[in-house]
Amino acid sequence: MKKNNCFSKYRNNYKRKIFLVAGARPNFMKIAPIYHEIRCYNRINPNNSINAIIIHTGQHYDKNMSDFFFRDLGLPKPDIYLGVGSGSHAVQTANVMVKFEKICLEKKPDLIVVVGDINSTLACSVVAAKLLVPVAHIESGLRSFDRTMPEEINRIITDSLSDYLFTTCSDANVNLKKEGIFQKNIFFVGNVMIDTLIRLKEKAQKSKILQKLRLKRKNYAVLTLHRPSNVDNKKTLQKILEAIKKINEHIEIVFPVHPRTIKQIEKFGLNKYKKSMKLLDPLAYIDFLQLYMNAKFVLTDSGGIQEETTYLGIPCLTLRENTERPITIKEGTNVLVGSDANLIIKETKKILKGNFKKVKRPKFWDGKAAQRIVKIVGEIL
Ligand code: UD1
Repeated sequence: MKKNNCFSKYRNNYKRKIFLVAGARPNFMKIAPIYHEIRCYNRINPNNSINAIIIHTGQHYDKNMSDFFFRDLGLPKPDIYLGVGSGSHAVQTANVMVKFEKICLEKKPDLIVVVGDINSTLACSVVAAKLLVPVAHIESGLRSFDRTMPEEINRIITDSLSDYLFTTCSDANVNLKKEGIFQKNIFFVGNVMIDTLIRLKEKAQKSKILQKLRLKRKNYAVLTLHRPSNVDNKKTLQKILEAIKKINEHIEIVFPVHPRTIKQIEKFGLNKYKKSMKLLDPLAYIDFLQLYMNAKFVLTDSGGIQEETTYLGIPCLTLRENTERPITIKEGTNVLVGSDANLIIKETKKILKGNFKKVKRPKFWDGKAAQRIVKIVGEIL
């Protein structure tokens, strides 16, 4: 279902131009393997190469939420930086749209590739679709069926506008078909985030972060927390921090804090909990990988970490009521615990007694997802 790209009249036989769009921390590790794979493709196909242009919307802008990731992932500096920064959902989305539209009109891409489910993903898909530029969505079809999550809205709209929908698991294919997407536009390719994990695992083993923090393998747990549903409500945040305080009496909790979360802890006057855990600034990719792959278990509300812990076989307690990644429960190490302090503590005790699920790695989480994607992109462009 190739669109009649409105820029096609400008096209000659020069390189096919694609935009790789990223905006926030969890996007960078998803575009990296595609970028690297395109370079390999170009070496093999010098007369039919793909010109990959990296667009960073600037949704995340702190050095440790953005720049250090580019460094660790071996990505060059973005070709184009939109610098949108923070704001309400409408402000942030609108700012990305205005700036991204200008770039599209100027550069005339043949395809835009968006990843994940953040506001930048949605904003760029809408702009591209209206300019009749084909859209490829990586990590398509995931559904939590919870429309109170901003990401769920982003996922549904992005998928409904995408021309090429690349999925990580079979339940995503089922969701897309139920929403009326044609089978021929869905490509089950596997998980690009796992590609990055596999590529950088060895490098992460050399990180000195455990020594630096004086931590011993399997003697600590890692916490990450940033979802609005957990951190924007004082009662919920306090319930979680209370549970963490109790768990910290049995095993040390290491908590690289998202900027949004630290602001909320301070705003709600919950500073007393800070001493119940080892608080850190957000970590770069390599150090964070070293940290969680050696943890006894992980407590998180992140989407990606549910998948990474499943791949590595590390027990994961997800501080959410639902997940758009049910495969990590069905086949992986993931257990949903919500923000219920008793349940969080109960499941933690099970893990500490050595009682946790064994895993099967989901199909195509094998380090070759980007290879499959670029092969398809090479054929469709
Ligand atoms: C965004 C994504 C979420 C993703 C998360 C990963 C949306 C709707 N949400 O949430 O899906 O899981 O990124 O981190 O797109 N801030 C800084 N420095 C930064 C970035 C943010 O201080 O570099 C602070 C700002 O106060 C900002 C707040 O964090 O207002 C939230 O940032 P925002 O990009 O709106 O959403 P995230 O919570 O990071």
